Amino acid sequence: MMMPENGHRAHGFSSAFFLDSDEILRELDLEGDETFMDAGCGDGHNAIKVLEDYNHSGTVYAVDVYDASIEDMETYKKENNVENLINIEADITEGIPGVEDASVDVVLMVNVFHGFKASRKIDEAICELARIIKPNGKIAIMDYKAWDVPNGPPTPVRSSPEEMEEFFAKHNLKKVYLNEEIGEDIPEGKSHYLIMFQKK
Ligand SMILES: C[S@@+](CC[C@H](N)C(=O)[O-])C[C@H]1O[C@@H](n2cnc3c(N)ncnc32)[C@H](O)[C@@H]1O
Repeated sequence: MMMPENGHRAHGFSSAFFLDSDEILRELDLEGDETFMDAGCGDGHNAIKVLEDYNHSGTVYAVDVYDASIEDMETYKKENNVENLINIEADITEGIPGVEDASVDVVLMVNVFHGFKASRKIDEAICELARIIKPNGKIAIMDYKAWDVPNGPPTPVRSSPEEMEEFFAKHNLKKVYLNEEIGEDIPEGKSHYLIMFQKK
């Protein structure tokens, strides 16, 4: 495991090494007082950036199934006295305890979704996201394009934006935004896409 720059442990490869957080967070048009969730936060660098650089005063949830990531986020919270950060150790496909129905304005999920395809838990994951998101809230998923290229997850677990639309439509969530020109520069083009969903 490569140790992320912020020293926090991550179960998987932190995107801090190859994706520009600001490029991602700018897509979200945060106003600064939303209830925001970094779902599958890993080392938490995106949640921390929202708190620190975007002067976020709303609630920020950092959620991950990996206990060490959440322990490190708890240490960060205590050391920096960040009252509006809530760290939750949870498997998103089994439900996120302590998060009320329709209570989150913005969910961001970077390089996590392909894992649900691998574990055949896509519906369980989307069902939980649909439960927690507010009626006008946004679910932003950033993941690798469905290309057969060496960097990133194996091709069979990648999903195209069109497939994503189908997965989310089953849960009454509609695509409201798609950016296919985002991520790392690789020989084939931009490595990622960012797709956003809202309740129908
Ligand atoms: C490749 S890392 C990406 C981490 C971070 N989002 C980033 O961009 O650096 C995937 C993260 O998702 C978490 N994860 C995978 N499946 C999960 C699940 N079912 N529930 C919660 N977290 C999960 C992993 O523990 C890991 O921290």
